[in-house]
Amino acid sequence: MIQIAIMGLGTVGTGVARVVAENSRQIERKLGEPLQVKTILVRHFKDGPYRQLMTDDFKKIEEDDSIRVVVETIGGVGAAYEYTKRALMAGKHVVTANKQLVAEKGCELLALAKKKNVNYLFEASVGGGIPVLHPLTQCMAANRIDEVYGILNGTTNYILTRMVRTGAFFADALREAQAKGYAEADPTADIEGIDAGRKICILADLAFGHQVDPDKVPMEGISKLSLRDVKLAERAGYRIKLLGRAVRLPGGRTAYVAPHLIPEDNPIAGVEDVFNAVVIRGNATGDVMFYGKGAGEMPTASACVADVMEALQASPRREEIGWSPDTDGFEDPAELHTRYYFRIEGSLADAAMSFGQVEVLSEDGETAFLTDRISGLEVQQQAKNLKILACMRVLP
Ligand code: HSE
Repeated sequence: MIQIAIMGLGTVGTGVARVVAENSRQIERKLGEPLQVKTILVRHFKDGPYRQLMTDDFKKIEEDDSIRVVVETIGGVGAAYEYTKRALMAGKHVVTANKQLVAEKGCELLALAKKKNVNYLFEASVGGGIPVLHPLTQCMAANRIDEVYGILNGTTNYILTRMVRTGAFFADALREAQAKGYAEADPTADIEGIDAGRKICILADLAFGHQVDPDKVPMEGISKLSLRDVKLAERAGYRIKLLGRAVRLPGGRTAYVAPHLIPEDNPIAGVEDVFNAVVIRGNATGDVMFYGKGAGEMPTASACVADVMEALQASPRREEIGWSPDTDGFEDPAELHTRYYFRIEGSLADAAMSFGQVEVLSEDGETAFLTDRISGLEVQQQAKNLKILACMRVLP
């Protein structure tokens, strides 16, 4: 019998306990031994099927040599960081879905895991149930990765889909996403692009091999997005999606999160509801796309439990996951060249005065238009006399 512990019994922690119980036969067949949750660390005891396993004392996990893997689903950096370090120090593998902790402290925790000859695995931290970090680091290992972009937040994609397809109000769609267990404890991280920002940092760390500091990554969410822009974009053959994007540049790399116009013939344009999609561009493979449920109890738990199984089977540990702590070479995404969508309070003449020839989408008191490919720096210069109501990049 292989014993594991779970720290935190929220949506993901509960899912991990359920997957271990409900899929016990498949898991045992693959591991050769049954897998059992022995202890669950909680802040407050509550009644339910796991009551007998609960403790509020981390030492019951730390000092229990029969526990070989700890699944951290506490979230955030404080207690999760402290207990992860102590579990690794105690020689236990740690598996997590905690994107904030991996984005901010992953490099340090991976180094500690290496020192203790155990695994620190975090497939569930990006894309929920979608296998994307393993393919990036294993199956695409022979490539130079030039770009990674994707819909990385299930809550905001769900809200956008409900608002656009069924006319739901923002607040109602958010409540539904919370009830379905998609949203973070504080949904501001979802709405303002911070959750997607942490995920693009992890993808960039692994893709480019250098730490990307989340504090340097511009993150814009969907709170300022207007349905008017969604409709104008759709009429012109584009969908609007919140994207995280990381690009290799000649001297370094950049990353950011923002709503984008996506041409409707790009498969990512049709990704709706809680689904996420990640496109990884390798110099040998070209574009490879990963698609699936990006949030929710069972999909996220599926990735965690697979990591538990891998941690137990990887002999002695997975070496290919990791990146340098060096943050040099991170550049402002304003260096990137793309087309831009604008909606301005003003006329086509005003638009032309700033950008020369533009593609007009609407002239109706306001003017909506697309520019040619320009850099973010040029946008800042050329648009400074315009009354801007909306401005978004078009995905190249
Ligand atoms: N709140 C996150 C989302 C959960 O909506 O994508 C999965 O990371």
